[in-house]
Amino acid sequence: MATKLNEDRATKVEEFQFHVIPKRTTWENFQNAVYDPDKQEFFGRTKRSWYQLLIFYGIFYTCLAALFAICTRGLLATLDDRAPKWQLETSLIGTNPGLGFRPISSETREGSLIWYNLKNACTTSKWVNLLDEFLLPYRVKQIGRNYRSCDFDEELGDGYVCVVDVDSFGPCTSGNNYGYNSTSPCVFLKLNKIFGWVPTYYTKGQEGMPSDLKETIENEAKDNRTAVWISCEGENPVDKERIGGFNYYPGRGFPGYYYPYVNTENYLSPLIAVQIMNVEPNAIVNIECRAWAGNINYSGSDKNREGSVHFEILVDDPRVT
Ligand SMILES: *[C@@H]1O[C@H](CO)[C@@H](O)[C@H](O)[C@H]1NC(C)=O
Ligand SMILES: *[C@@H]1O[C@H](CO)[C@@H](O)[C@H](O)[C@H]1NC(C)=O
Ligand SMILES: *[C@@H]1O[C@H](CO)[C@@H](O)[C@H](O)[C@H]1NC(C)=O
Repeated sequence: MATKLNEDRATKVEEFQFHVIPKRTTWENFQNAVYDPDKQEFFGRTKRSWYQLLIFYGIFYTCLAALFAICTRGLLATLDDRAPKWQLETSLIGTNPGLGFRPISSETREGSLIWYNLKNACTTSKWVNLLDEFLLPYRVKQIGRNYRSCDFDEELGDGYVCVVDVDSFGPCTSGNNYGYNSTSPCVFLKLNKIFGWVPTYYTKGQEGMPSDLKETIENEAKDNRTAVWISCEGENPVDKERIGGFNYYPGRGFPGYYYPYVNTENYLSPLIAVQIMNVEPNAIVNIECRAWAGNINYSGSDKNREGSVHFEILVDDPRVT
């Protein structure tokens, strides 16, 4: 019996040695890894194991996709195509609309400087082209569609927007080079759009307003005083001396009938063209424009500018020294 066992053991050992140490080439090793005929395994797994894996991941990813779809649907249900979810006080942009100006140079090193040389057509046509481009959306025929010529005493129906008339900018037209062939260039002002924002109108002169603006408001018909008023001034006494005043087209205010902006199709922000009269050549002139409404806060500091805009103008004229 004992010998039989020993014999068995010997053969086992032999078999074992024979089985484990077979010399295999790399190719055979690879084949074995793909399909092991002894254990009936593909890539280290039996057929059954592969099926289980497939079913598991199938269910797992289906659930994941379903969850994602539910979340997306839920989110979209709370959104509106036309109106932002977070408005006015609840939004990040807040309720203080910024005042912007054009033309702005595309070269950032020029910042807010408008510089041109009266004897160098390249430097003037640059600004004319920038303004042409800026006004392009305003040049489309604002007829038919949902445009209306608005007035202070008329309600604008739902779905309609007010015309912004490009012919109302006086001498600030492309044909007149927006004044950039003279020392009286034009700058366009625009209030940034804030959904649902309604201005609180100043229908009387306010403390701090320049006297010419107070006068303008008092001279305006009572019904026509619902506007966001604009004033521009040389920033420092020396700047004031270097300009001959400002002309505003079509008027000194953004009329109230343009507000609130509710993302109606084809809406155009109203513009005011400000012509800076007789800028003294060869000197930088600092100009600040300010928007006036009860709910526009003002800060003139460069770090945290609110309700106002600042730019500089430099007109070079080699004929004058
Ligand atoms: C204006 O400033 C006041 C006081 O700092 C603040 O309470 C108010 O919310 C501001 N309004 C806007 C429109 O930012
Ligand atoms: C008020 O403004 C309208 C333009 O919106 C103008 O036609 C009208 O003449 C103005 N009224 C007065 C009295 O100035
Ligand atoms: C500027 O150009 C316009 C159009 O060419 C012209 O009518 C106007 O007189 C020019 N202004 C000056 C100051 O040259």
